[in-house]
Amino acid sequence: MASTIREISRQDTVSIAELYEQVRARTMQIVAPLEIEDYVIQTAEFMSPARWHIGHTSWFFETVLQAHKPGYRVYSEDFLFYFNSYYEGFGERIERPKRGTKSRPTVKETVAYRNYIDEQVLAILQSPERLPDVETVLSLVRLGLEHEMQHQELLVYDIKHLLCDQFDAPIKPLPNSAIQVEGMAEIEGGLFRLGYDGSRSNSSYEFAFDNEKPAHQVFLQDYAIDKALVSNGDFLEFINDGGYQNFRWWFSEGWEAVNHEQWRAPLYWELHGEWMIRDFAGLQPAMSKKDEPVTHVSYFEASAFAKWAGKRLPTEAEWEKAACYDSRRNVRTAFPWGDTGPSSGNTNLFENGFWSVAPIGAFPEGANAYGCQQMIGDVWEWTTSDYVPYPGFKTEFDEYNDKWFVNQKVLRGGSFATPQLHVRATYRNFFHAHERWMISGFRCAKDL
Ligand SMILES: [Fe+2]
Repeated sequence: MASTIREISRQDTVSIAELYEQVRARTMQIVAPLEIEDYVIQTAEFMSPARWHIGHTSWFFETVLQAHKPGYRVYSEDFLFYFNSYYEGFGERIERPKRGTKSRPTVKETVAYRNYIDEQVLAILQSPERLPDVETVLSLVRLGLEHEMQHQELLVYDIKHLLCDQFDAPIKPLPNSAIQVEGMAEIEGGLFRLGYDGSRSNSSYEFAFDNEKPAHQVFLQDYAIDKALVSNGDFLEFINDGGYQNFRWWFSEGWEAVNHEQWRAPLYWELHGEWMIRDFAGLQPAMSKKDEPVTHVSYFEASAFAKWAGKRLPTEAEWEKAACYDSRRNVRTAFPWGDTGPSSGNTNLFENGFWSVAPIGAFPEGANAYGCQQMIGDVWEWTTSDYVPYPGFKTEFDEYNDKWFVNQKVLRGGSFATPQLHVRATYRNFFHAHERWMISGFRCAKDL
């Protein structure tokens, strides 16, 4: 029986303990429709079984208990080995491609471990004054909740890869497009302050990762950026024009991927006489979804489309300025529509419950000052920017973000699988150029 996804409050009236309970409960709501057999299967090297996610997110909190709870004893050395992801500092671990090769710990044992960790963490959160280093513990727990929300999104990707429309997702009906979105916004260049500049909202639950800091000046040329995300209909034109057969649109590495992987369309597209798209709701003609943003494209595919269209992808600074700067009022806001957090009325994030992208123009209230739509939610948007540290970067947690600063591209804006509490205009997500099992799409830019 599918469970309904509940809202998580970003209000200050909620204590850190309540926030912990809400976020942890969300993970179990996501996996609730799975059958026991579904929890342990690994369908590709890049995905992880659901059992691993629910254990690994608990392991993360156990590392906090180990370091900061006086007298804490490890739950199981075997679990430390199986549920560590990539942290060299926390010892030996199973290789990522082998997470689906073991049936132990069982799902039941993993849930018991999860419940035990919850009891232990809640015990310290209910009387934090007893801890010698309360500030550190509270900031690590807050980080642990952001980490958990990242894994909630990964669970959606991984469940889609495993089951897709066989998963009994609690899907709510998609809204219709409310307005036509066409053309490009022209944005003036000059100095722009890129990155997270301290809290802009009144909530103490405001959070930013170290990789979004420090805010710093960058120089932009004048540019234009699409008001709408590239749609399935747009992408179908590229396919029908022989885009996947023409080397001239592709980077050399992208062309190698096209040939090696036999790419002819985005992931989850199937050719049945005509192109069809499979998602959580089933298999439908791509043409019936022509007004929805294209998703499950790699950086290579996004770049090839942009070149074919006579455009290019934006840099992350161009994307961020378009998302949160209003040149007429000379103000910068936390989100395209202002400083209040996202709601189901202005974005398509996980709480909307669509388990899908929404049609272009479905959220006119989420527009920015330049008229760009759906910059937050729906799909993570590829940028041309390399994922590297900002000038003046200081790591706040070893091995979390800093060790990935090579060979990946930045994506911005969050997807329909991103929790509302987790997203910001300054958020820097990152993936390799060939990856496409995540909810990735794009909009184009061009020079003026
Ligand atoms: Fe993780």
